[in-house]
Amino acid sequence: MGLSTSLDHSEKSPYMVFQWALTVVLVFFGSNLLVVVYNLLLHPLKEFPGPPLARCTSLWGFYWNLHGLRAHKIDNAHKRYGTIIRIAPNLLSFSDPEAVREIYNSKNFVKAEGFYRAKRIFQENHLLSFRDPAQHHQRRKLLSRGFSQATLTEFEPQIASKVSTLLDQWTKLSKQKDAIDVYPWAHMFGFDVIYHLMFGIDPESLKRGKESVIMPWLRSWRPTFNYKELLPQLEKWGPSAPGIVGKNFRNVQKWKMYAVDIVRSFRQEGKTTPFLSRVLDGIDESLGRPLTDSELAEECMGGMFGGSGTTANTFVFALWGTLRHPDVVRCLKNELKDAFPDTNVIPSAVECGKLPYLNAVLQETLRLYPTIIAILPRMAVQDTVLAGAHIPKGANVGIQNLTIHRNEQIFSEPKDFCPERWLQPNEAQRTAFVPFSVGPRKCIGSNLAEMELRVLIAAFFRRFNASIDPSMTEREMELYDGFSASPIGGRLLLHLEKENS
Ligand code: HEM
Repeated sequence: MGLSTSLDHSEKSPYMVFQWALTVVLVFFGSNLLVVVYNLLLHPLKEFPGPPLARCTSLWGFYWNLHGLRAHKIDNAHKRYGTIIRIAPNLLSFSDPEAVREIYNSKNFVKAEGFYRAKRIFQENHLLSFRDPAQHHQRRKLLSRGFSQATLTEFEPQIASKVSTLLDQWTKLSKQKDAIDVYPWAHMFGFDVIYHLMFGIDPESLKRGKESVIMPWLRSWRPTFNYKELLPQLEKWGPSAPGIVGKNFRNVQKWKMYAVDIVRSFRQEGKTTPFLSRVLDGIDESLGRPLTDSELAEECMGGMFGGSGTTANTFVFALWGTLRHPDVVRCLKNELKDAFPDTNVIPSAVECGKLPYLNAVLQETLRLYPTIIAILPRMAVQDTVLAGAHIPKGANVGIQNLTIHRNEQIFSEPKDFCPERWLQPNEAQRTAFVPFSVGPRKCIGSNLAEMELRVLIAAFFRRFNASIDPSMTEREMELYDGFSASPIGGRLLLHLEKENS
């Protein structure tokens, strides 16, 4: 009897396992099939055109995200399907710049759930990821002091000193025969600036010529938000996942522990910085209390991410755009030489702000290489009409800078790097140019970024004659869309020579 029972089991087990597996597979594919059929035939956005796969599943966007190509695929889809297209079952992309203000300046839209929930860094909301307008407003009030003109003016000498350190390092390296890869240096610069602004401590990556231990952790965040967009449960379980997926989450966890330690030490030792002064003890009125160490740590992590790669990549693209156009370099250098006779100058941000050609170079860089090239999705909180289209409550809509900044009806020869177009821009160009977005969710760090970039570009072109290493290809410098876009090749090799006069 005992034997027959155990035999029965051993016969049934594989069969039962097979049955279960088959059921799971059928339920999985069956339910997905139903979702696909619903998305195609019954969904409120079913009438909008778009790539067939994108209209029935979010996997289209996920797949291209993993390859850093989503923004480019959406751009191509606009060329094929028109100005309002469906690029995920519940997401429309608009290519008419007039819609920018209608979406991003309007109370009819809030940040979209899946995309921004995935942008939480490690389980807390931070300024970028808040969806609720009232909660966001309170947090922005606490953080705005850190980015105010007064704080930035006080901090400007630290930026100048980092520009000087960076250019001195490159002066030394330029004496060797090899080309200099300016890409990692630009990232060290961006990181040192934002870290020093937040914590009042110079991490000295530039002085050491070696990136901070935090940088690899920070880079690990990018893949984790792609995973979380598809599988939100990973926010909780990610660190236990096997392989590279788990490793990325564990790196973000290490970064979080590091940030919590710093914040805790500030509180325990009663230290502060102009950046942190309001946010360390101030009451977040929507919470009715000051931020916890964990919440404040994630704000600082958001700042480190938002403030480093964006500025660094913009500088790298400014060099790439400018150095391939000798006429642009000539105009820029002439303007700088007239303004600053000393080749070693680190000019002030105010003086740089007065130079039209320098500012045109920066604007053209931000137009052609806006580091946030991706669509920024917003959810309609009520039925509304947008660019003539009926948008039902709950639908997501958005615009991407890659598309509107290259709109050929507004910017002639849109793929050319042509700073001259900014010397006398028309109204349509001003409307379509939104590298920092607009409205209550526009970039909080735009003044800091522009200050850094103006001073750095001016000091670089005053000090060096530069040329691009012939091994560099166009392909390497194409934009990799990873929310904050960077050059695909992750390098820019330059030869530098000190300017004589
Ligand atoms: C060239 C440099 C930069 C560009 C092109 C840029 C672009 C943008 C854009 C387009 C947004 C809107 C994102 C959205 O709606 O989802 C944004 C938001 C934000 N940026 Fe920047 N950014 C730059 C530099 C900086 C710097 C230096 C910081 C400093 C920490 C920063 C911190 C932030 C934060 C915290 C937000 C969220 C603001 C909010 O939701 O209230 N960014 N940025």
